[in-house]
Amino acid sequence: MTDLIEEIADFCTRHGMSETRFGELVLNDKPFVSQLRAGRDIRSSTVEKIRAFMRDFAGPGGAVSPDQASIGGRFPAGGRAFPHRDLLSIGQLETHEILFLLEEAEQWVALNRQATKHSDALAGLTIINAFFENSTRTLLSFEIAGKRLGADVVNMHAAQSSVKKGETLIDTAVTLNAMRADAIVIRHGSSGAVGLIGGKVDCPVLNAGDGQHEHPTQALLDALALRHKLQQQGRASSDGMFNGLTVTICGDILHSRVARSNILCLQALGAKVRVCAPPALMPAGIEAMGVEIFHHFDAALDGAEVVMMLRLQNERMDGQFIPSPREYRHLYGLTANRLALAEPDCIIMHPGPMNRGVEIDSDIADLKGRSIITDQVEMGVAIRMACLDVLTRKARKTPGWGEGEWV
Ligand code: CP
Repeated sequence: MTDLIEEIADFCTRHGMSETRFGELVLNDKPFVSQLRAGRDIRSSTVEKIRAFMRDFAGPGGAVSPDQASIGGRFPAGGRAFPHRDLLSIGQLETHEILFLLEEAEQWVALNRQATKHSDALAGLTIINAFFENSTRTLLSFEIAGKRLGADVVNMHAAQSSVKKGETLIDTAVTLNAMRADAIVIRHGSSGAVGLIGGKVDCPVLNAGDGQHEHPTQALLDALALRHKLQQQGRASSDGMFNGLTVTICGDILHSRVARSNILCLQALGAKVRVCAPPALMPAGIEAMGVEIFHHFDAALDGAEVVMMLRLQNERMDGQFIPSPREYRHLYGLTANRLALAEPDCIIMHPGPMNRGVEIDSDIADLKGRSIITDQVEMGVAIRMACLDVLTRKARKTPGWGEGEWV
């Protein structure tokens, strides 16, 4: 049995998978590996099942580049590649599940670049976008994504809904559920609100940003845009990972769900993440996330290969966090002089909306060859198509996606 334990440990290390997750994926038994170490007896058929899983998962050639990948050969088969009903956070995902969504998105990037951008994959399904906070990019890209996949898409804006008459979040969710939505996309100002709704409805729920918690599709689209840019620069790794890449995230880290999701996503993909903010805009205890903390932007840029700028989230600030926007730009704005401190090909990112002339100068936001801000928006549609497609496969009875339990 020692051989099998070593094989599992080696497999988990190579694929960035926890042993708990391994047990859950293979046998729907989270403590399986720890019990095996403690001497649990298992049948020879179970040993065979475990070895078959590891063989199928890695494929004959191991990891392959995203442009050559056979998804079936690189990831667990069928629904085991993404055994989640909802997409609530990056924190809930294993590295291979992130890579799976990124690779699924590639087909939609290609479709979206054609003159006719239509698939019938989700024909007959109803998707409700329930936005309790303002949005341009996320709302529109989820709407476009659903429509390009052939679904019926309905947008619920809280400002024009019965929320204004005092209806609770839970009652709103139950109402949407009664309309037999096939997926509900939710943005809400309170951390954890989307997860709460997930427990009240029968269909997949996608988090489009909840308070200061997470914005998972933003991190996924950022990773996809970054992967494309690195491929263009000839710097992409063949396994789709960002191993060793130094990324500096600068801005209002305290109030940012984008920062949180990106830290988790970039680290899962092997990047070294630095965060930079004035002390008042840096969350207490963030070092527990394994990031390097900076309060001086010049130092945070030294050696940076990617810089991701975040806006000041004034709508979430309770009080005065900075002396003035002018002072903030002076210390934390990305200017041409500052960019020169980073690596020569440093990639510039911003999730939007931007406050030009505050956290980023206009000429830097629009810098050709370096800024990928509009690419991020383009990738947002493809990522959201991938998420809607993958999360509705079980309900659509896609072969191989009907088995197993959601986690
Ligand atoms: N990046 C982002 O979430 O933008 P919106 O608020 O416009 O959706």
